Amino acid sequence: HKLDGGHDVADKGRYRHYMQKEIFEQPEVVAATLAGRIGDHSVLSQALGTRAQEILPQVQQVQIVACGTSYHAGMVARYWLEDWAGVPCSVEVASELRYRKTVVRPGTLFVTISQSGETADTLAALRQAKALGYLASMTICNVPNSSLVRESELSLMTEAGPEIGVASTKAFTTQLVALQLFCIALAKANGLSGEREAELVGALHKLPQLMEGFTGLDKLVKHTSEAFAEKNHALFLGRGVEFPIALEGALKLKEISYIHAEAYPAGELKHGPLALVDADMPVIVVAPNNELLEKLKSNLQEVRARGGQLFVFASPKAGFISEEGVTVIEVPDSPESLAPILYTVPLQLLSYHVALLKGTDVDQPRNLAKSVTVE
Ligand code: AGP
Repeated sequence: HKLDGGHDVADKGRYRHYMQKEIFEQPEVVAATLAGRIGDHSVLSQALGTRAQEILPQVQQVQIVACGTSYHAGMVARYWLEDWAGVPCSVEVASELRYRKTVVRPGTLFVTISQSGETADTLAALRQAKALGYLASMTICNVPNSSLVRESELSLMTEAGPEIGVASTKAFTTQLVALQLFCIALAKANGLSGEREAELVGALHKLPQLMEGFTGLDKLVKHTSEAFAEKNHALFLGRGVEFPIALEGALKLKEISYIHAEAYPAGELKHGPLALVDADMPVIVVAPNNELLEKLKSNLQEVRARGGQLFVFASPKAGFISEEGVTVIEVPDSPESLAPILYTVPLQLLSYHVALLKGTDVDQPRNLAKSVTVE
């Protein structure tokens, strides 16, 4: 086969780009990350390995360190850790943490998240952490035998398979799956009820099928992407556990379509960003049907009143109506615990289709490398 950037082009199969293939592989690789780790109603003890069984009961708090998309995965995990495990968690980009005078409390688990396992800043943060009195180190990683796996005491592998596209897609969603398994396992060590565990694990059993439904939004999102072809800016909004998903959607659009995109917690709009909103500023909203929905709706009224163009990803149950200036992209209804994972998919598809319209190099965007192994 002709080699394309060192990879056998046959790998792309019926897809135009590796990124497109990797978006559509997500139902299958999410299932692979779950395989052998969940029973009918529980996370299996061997999911994290025997050493983890000794360490998890001693964990008093968690420090998560990562870069880029992997950092966004860590931000999602913080909500789950605090909600389900009752464990405080801080999340920081590696290039900041490694230069900060950190204070390490006893019983702190140091968690790195990385697709490649070779990101220089993340690796440096781990090596530095070892002298700072952390309880233990764990990595969520996609490459067996990578430096982070070899140098961490615990590892929980994402089973995404090789990710070729520079813009991370399936690595991110499988990181979230692995992080859910970790959060549930830690929650169990902190008294999570069997009933709640069964509810969370029951949802995970439905995830691969639900992911199929979300990748099935491709045509609808392709049509929506046409509104962005001439845009130079975009604003992504989310609240709560969906704020990191808004950040991830903005990063995807930036890195493959070169459109300047920012993400804000929706409640922050009136503290400044609202000044940016006019008819030329598309506002993309991640709006799962959760307890913050009504507050989110009032945030969106602020955008509408300034003539902003809204693009809302929401399930029919959320009750959004398409109207002048408001495009609702209906997504399948889904369990709240899975929303961050599922709502990522249409945002990946959006950035992919906008990039196609812009004619950029989707798999190898300008200025970027797949793994940043130099500082
Ligand atoms: C993701 O789309 C980016 N290409 C980039 O932010 C990436 O997530 C970051 O460089 C971290 O890489 P890692 O997961 O391999 O550590």
